[in-house]
Amino acid sequence: MADSRTMQVVRTVDAIRELVSAARADGCSIGLVPTMGALHHAHVSLMDAARRDCDFTVVSVFVNPTQFGPNEDYERYPRDEAADLSTCRSAGVDAVFLPAVGEMYAPEAVTAVRVAGLTSGLCGAFRPGHFDGVATVVAKLLNIVQPDRAYFGEKDAQQLAVIRRVVIDLDMPTEVVGCPTVREESGLAVSSRNAYLSSAERVRAQSLYAALQAGRARILSGERDAESVIGTMRSVIDPAGSAKVDYVSIVEPATMQPVARIEDPVLLALAVRIGGTRLIDNLTVDPSADSL
Ligand code: PAJ
Repeated sequence: MADSRTMQVVRTVDAIRELVSAARADGCSIGLVPTMGALHHAHVSLMDAARRDCDFTVVSVFVNPTQFGPNEDYERYPRDEAADLSTCRSAGVDAVFLPAVGEMYAPEAVTAVRVAGLTSGLCGAFRPGHFDGVATVVAKLLNIVQPDRAYFGEKDAQQLAVIRRVVIDLDMPTEVVGCPTVREESGLAVSSRNAYLSSAERVRAQSLYAALQAGRARILSGERDAESVIGTMRSVIDPAGSAKVDYVSIVEPATMQPVARIEDPVLLALAVRIGGTRLIDNLTVDPSADSL
């Protein structure tokens, strides 16, 4: 689609709805990639997946204030509209939706989407209200664009589980597509927040993936006790006991509830603060099917 048309850039709900309606009238299927901008090659992998599956790909770029806590990085979150548009153009995206905060949230708005249970552990425990903000903005974006498919990264595994739940519980007719985590050669998961890391911190950040690999290796060599595997992962992240580890957990992938014994596929998940930067990563491990 994008090859024969120029990419459209719109900032209002009405304008994106019009573009999507026109594409639908032409018989196109619609794909949506929600982002907060500062686009990098992991975001592009989501756009590529959308373009593969759908005739008309929309990217939304919106740094959503309601998912940031009062002491988090909303103000300093990297923003570069020109670079983002150029990334979308090169990726062959059909339309970019770039709403201002006032376009997404009317001052009188009082409705939010809250997902219980799934959000109590992991990042939900450390970022109160974060997943309400994510669930609300994603529900709004899905209602605005009404895509056939929406694309999210497995890097944010709890977010993906929350969004899958929202779509089921609110009867939304969109298919949620999870896309594999994109990593740098060092194993570090690509993230907009990596831009905050100094070069020394970048090296320390590699311990997150190393810890996940060490956990996986213990499970595949037969360890079934989650606490023991968590101990191994913690020792890799933080041999000196000086890193700020928010959590290292082993959970059931759909419910995000902790498991004690590892019998079925599990999600190894962790969040660590390196300097002032909070990084997360995760890995799914199937104790029976996987091999080292
Ligand atoms: P953002 O952090 O910009 O991420 C946009 C999408 O890219 C998310 O689905 C995220 O999981 C995915 N992504 C980021 N890094 C990735 C990586 N290394 N590999 C694979 N996918 C990756 O996540 C958000 O924005 C927001 O919370 C949002 C869903 C847009 C709601 O505001």
